[in-house]
Amino acid sequence: MRPVIAPSLLSADPLSLYSQIEEIRGETEILHLDIMDGHFVPNITFGPFFAGAIKEKFPDLILDVHLMVTNPEKAIEWYMDSGADWVSFHIEATPHHHRYLSRIRERGKKAGLALNPSTPICLLEPSLPFLDFVLLLTVNPGFGGQKFIKEGLEKITRLKALKQEKGYEFLIEVDGGVKKHNIKTIARAGAEVLVAGSAVFSGEPLKNLLSLKEELE
Ligand code: DX5
Ligand code: ZN
Repeated sequence: MRPVIAPSLLSADPLSLYSQIEEIRGETEILHLDIMDGHFVPNITFGPFFAGAIKEKFPDLILDVHLMVTNPEKAIEWYMDSGADWVSFHIEATPHHHRYLSRIRERGKKAGLALNPSTPICLLEPSLPFLDFVLLLTVNPGFGGQKFIKEGLEKITRLKALKQEKGYEFLIEVDGGVKKHNIKTIARAGAEVLVAGSAVFSGEPLKNLLSLKEELE
């Protein structure tokens, strides 16, 4: 698959969100929405009501909900009820990976597991057959605008090799520190979905998005 960019709303201006999404809607297929609970990560963001409002106004865009919450069982249901199309939760946040991945798929959504930078790829192995995508964090989750942790490139390469070796079809999504200067390298390593927050939403979102897309061509 040709790599695609998933703009992350975390870095958008919260009081101009509608117009900022409107500005880029014709140039993206996906919106990445970071959900933080103040426990799993030291920050709090958007609730299910907010996710529902976005889906209602932009039904054609894939709503990619990244749950950075401990014990995600309830949150998974809330955000699916609100219209999430892709739902990922953290492998570090619960021991019930198979149960929740199955539940997400049962409801016709795409199921993903997210991994913190220090979590090894081998922990994913038992879950690989049940995954629609893997979300590799290349910053410590919690905030936008951080620097890409370069060791993440090796994880992407390893995951891609595992995917090819076993013939899996899950997508590799990379989240954190994706910028114009490194997006090509990250895509070449094997990222198929590239989350970009501050690289899109600082300054002029449409112009920024187009220039990131240009790098991928
Ligand atoms: C980090 C979030 C990211 C964040 C990325 O906790 O999961 O989605 O928005 O922001 P940038 O692209 O600025 O690193
Ligand atoms: Zn994210």
